[in-house]
Amino acid sequence: MYAQIVESTGKAVKTLNEMEGEERVFQERINAGGKIEPKDWMPDGYRKTMVRQISQHAHSEIVGQLPEGNWITRAPTLERKAILLAKVQDEAGHGLYLYCAAETLGISRDQMFDQLHSGKAKYSSIFNYPTLTWADIGAVGWLVDQAAIMNQVPLQRSSYGPYARAMVRICKEESFHQRQGFDIMMKMCEGTAAQKRMAQDALNRFWAPSLMMFGPPDADSVHSAQSMAWKIKMNSNDELRQKFVDAVVPQAEFLGLTIPDENLAWNDKKGGYDFTDPDWQEFMAVIHGNGPCNRERLAARVKAWDDGAWVRDGLNTHAAKKRKAAKPVAG
Ligand SMILES: [Fe+2]
Ligand SMILES: [Fe+2]
Repeated sequence: MYAQIVESTGKAVKTLNEMEGEERVFQERINAGGKIEPKDWMPDGYRKTMVRQISQHAHSEIVGQLPEGNWITRAPTLERKAILLAKVQDEAGHGLYLYCAAETLGISRDQMFDQLHSGKAKYSSIFNYPTLTWADIGAVGWLVDQAAIMNQVPLQRSSYGPYARAMVRICKEESFHQRQGFDIMMKMCEGTAAQKRMAQDALNRFWAPSLMMFGPPDADSVHSAQSMAWKIKMNSNDELRQKFVDAVVPQAEFLGLTIPDENLAWNDKKGGYDFTDPDWQEFMAVIHGNGPCNRERLAARVKAWDDGAWVRDGLNTHAAKKRKAAKPVAG
């Protein structure tokens, strides 16, 4: 989802009996539902996987500001503008908590930004799709933030303390985001025929990319087993995707919108909806930098970083002057 393809660097998953010493203590604590804190011993693979997961998540939050920030000046009323502004600011806050959580594992903020700006780091594929109309802002809040909640609520119980605690606050804010999106959709659907068509069009375009947010099908998720054993991934991709579809279908019915999937049907036996998988080839293309807006998003991030150089330089110079002034005079 916000970290869709995290390759766990652990080798084959070991059983508790195959472990000894620190490794065993570490795994026992996780099995008992305890938290791993920054200064605790942890396997290298756990540290590396956590850095990847948290940094991908952080990058997703700040890149996620771009498609919506694009609409702040065009929001239809002052109230909608203020709400959207608050939401986009929340996403910056989410990015900051998460960069801080990743830093506790020994990676610096500069290293993470460098990975993002050089195109080496991944972030959620969803933010590489354009927001063409105001209804898209409704669809993003309704679908994308809802998918984020489904993925992040279980992560409040994940084993790495700083990450789990960041999730608690983030999830509270995500539920506000989801409601504001649904509220926009309700307004559009109660409006003119043209407004309702815009809402349907937004759903048509955001449906499949939202399903992709949960990552590849379980059968292709080769790295999941170790992440599950370390409790840094709490549910499988397919489980969460199913949960999302089952929640969204009645919401779409309430809005009077049609989910763009001919195969969508209630399945009594599984107690959930059958649905068509999104195009996984498209997903891989977007993840590897070839989506509709990948280049634009990265260019916007790099420009923001370069434009802010004078602020960083100014702060560093000021800090250096203060340090010098604070030094006791020799003699
Ligand atoms: Fe967020
Ligand atoms: Fe959000």
